[in-house]
Amino acid sequence: MATINDNYLKLKAGYLFPEIARRVNAFAIANPNAPIIKLGIGDVTEPLPQACRTAMKTAVEEMGDRATFKGYGPEQGYGWLREKIAAQDFQKRGCEIDASEIFVSDGAKCDTGNILDIFGKDNTIAVTDPVYPVYVDTNVMAGNTGTANDGGKYGGLVYMPITAENDFTAEIPTEKVDLIYLCFPNNPTGATASKSHLKAWVDYAKANDSIIFFDAAYEAFITDADLPHSIYEIEGARDCAIEFRSFSKNAGFTGTRCAYTVVPKTLTAASADGSDVELWKLWNRRQSTKFNGVSYIVQRGAEAVYSDEGQAQIAQLVGFYLENAKIICDRLTAAGLSVYGGVNAPYVWVKTPNGLTSWDFFDKLLQAANVVGTPGSGFGAAGEGYFRISAFNSRDNVEEAMKRIGDTFKG
Ligand code: MLT
Repeated sequence: MATINDNYLKLKAGYLFPEIARRVNAFAIANPNAPIIKLGIGDVTEPLPQACRTAMKTAVEEMGDRATFKGYGPEQGYGWLREKIAAQDFQKRGCEIDASEIFVSDGAKCDTGNILDIFGKDNTIAVTDPVYPVYVDTNVMAGNTGTANDGGKYGGLVYMPITAENDFTAEIPTEKVDLIYLCFPNNPTGATASKSHLKAWVDYAKANDSIIFFDAAYEAFITDADLPHSIYEIEGARDCAIEFRSFSKNAGFTGTRCAYTVVPKTLTAASADGSDVELWKLWNRRQSTKFNGVSYIVQRGAEAVYSDEGQAQIAQLVGFYLENAKIICDRLTAAGLSVYGGVNAPYVWVKTPNGLTSWDFFDKLLQAANVVGTPGSGFGAAGEGYFRISAFNSRDNVEEAMKRIGDTFKG
């Protein structure tokens, strides 16, 4: 009889967002007239920028003409897109990243999971708590953890609590860890990292031969001039960090799919015989074998993000969601709730009032205000007592949801 990957059996209930969807659907069936507003999953609502649409339409026409038709593209992405990414997202900020170190993909979520393909099974892995659940679940699936304890923590992972006390930025570990997941601006807390915080991580990683997985999917939301957008703004990061980026949140590509991962050629890790191996070579081999690249049409759409018109349009989109985040912060504060994040990030991290658990608060908001958010405990044990509200929605929905929450918690 065929056997399964038993590691899947270690996973806790469903992946967080499908689990929320299941509960919301059950509520909607029982209350068919409830005007539910979803501020749960961080999914964009505003249309694709005109520059991207125009570029994709042109690309569709090219695909309809034998002279310009394209079959398989390079697995790593087309050179013209990789060049623009390297120049505008990195070199313009003084980061030494070459186009050949950019790997275009269909999502940062996929890449943060897939990257484990090129790492060994005996690494010590550190994640923050709370954390984007993909980092943990993909390690469970890969067999890098033990089973979960009653508190939902998996054996074998090092959990670094992020709380209001440490401004939602993890302390540098005192023990040695090999792989470290960092996400700034942070999902779920909306916290940001200063250059000095990232420098402390880079120094730690270099001293301990660790590799940092830096998820910068929300970098476009940084408005403070002194905050770093990329870990490569920190000297030495080329030797210890892989960075993940996405077009999902800045250009509204959640349904269009395009992202990229940066693997510097100077990055190495040890093979079983103790020799240093270039991670770039392994990732290139992995992608060439398991991936056939992102569609030509979508890559042309992503390229248009870097045109003057595209840059102006994404700035407008990001500004729109940031204004939503400000409205959420202001209204919840006025309703007497404590809020964090939501300034250089599209997520607002709310302390649940009156000692309510995260899921109690979820139920209360759903039932009394018909508003959906994400229970903090779904992101990890230290997220208990918190709740995440996403700023990705229309202005009308955000205004209406905040009015209803205000009415629910008034007095
Ligand atoms: C979230 O809500 O945390 C996002 O949807 C994460 C993602 O983009 O996968």
